[in-house]
Amino acid sequence: MLTTKHAPFIEEARNRHELFITQPYEQYSEENHEAWRRLYARMQPEWSRYANRWFLEGLTALALDPDRVPRLESVNQILRPLTGFRAIAVSGYVPAYLFFDCLRRREFPTTITIRPLDSLDYLPEPDIFHDIAGHVPMHTSREFAEVLVRFGQCAHSAAVIVNGIADQRVRLERLTSIYKALARFFWFTVEFGLMQTGEELKAYGSGLLSSHGELRHSVESRLVQRSSIALDWVIHQSFEIDHYQPLLFYVQSFDHLFSLVDQLERWMRFGRLDSVAPGEPEVSPEDLASFLASDTLVA
Ligand SMILES: [Fe+2]
Repeated sequence: MLTTKHAPFIEEARNRHELFITQPYEQYSEENHEAWRRLYARMQPEWSRYANRWFLEGLTALALDPDRVPRLESVNQILRPLTGFRAIAVSGYVPAYLFFDCLRRREFPTTITIRPLDSLDYLPEPDIFHDIAGHVPMHTSREFAEVLVRFGQCAHSAAVIVNGIADQRVRLERLTSIYKALARFFWFTVEFGLMQTGEELKAYGSGLLSSHGELRHSVESRLVQRSSIALDWVIHQSFEIDHYQPLLFYVQSFDHLFSLVDQLERWMRFGRLDSVAPGEPEVSPEDLASFLASDTLVA
């Protein structure tokens, strides 16, 4: 059984401090496959109406089995030749720098557990449905893949900048602010981004694409404020993870998104991310430490 919060294999890996693992495919129970089947089936009509076209093309290309939890190996056989990206199995939370650095190397840390059948709707932590059905189809798009790599490079630049600061207090203050800015940008784009092309508004953010209720809500609900993305808004904008997002930003294209990541890095170099507005997300000591570890600077 590889159910979120009930997976002995994962517990054992964590006890051994193994973050990167292999997917023990035979351990998925029939209940796990049934959870995948239901999640996938109910998303299909939502995707066809609200997902951006690169996601839909990605779904077709990956040809995921609607009835069975996917094998990462099979997904990667299709994915790698397209953009160089591959999904790598992890046993749990990947500290921030390590996560972004994986993107830089075209690796996507992927949760392999799946939510229990009795809580298909809401899960605070990622599972394989969010990671494979929500994120990975986007990784088949060359333009989007370049955005992720660029974002990983941006995190690398952040590590180089803060590790060059001698005063420990200043270093931690700057890192905390820069990290908040990066995390907010990632949240409002890769996880909850919308794209406006002509009259059409579609979702490309994976938090939306893996949520049965929120995908439609994000595009259609009057309760959502939707705004053209502006970097000096996003980096100061806090967010909460436990309810539908009341504020979303749209980009015009992935080229547009790529240029924003460039801008983010320039602002970081000029010190414009050094004192962003307080508020969510919380920055954990583990996340901060991941940027400060000595092996962070290995190219
Ligand atoms: Fe995600």
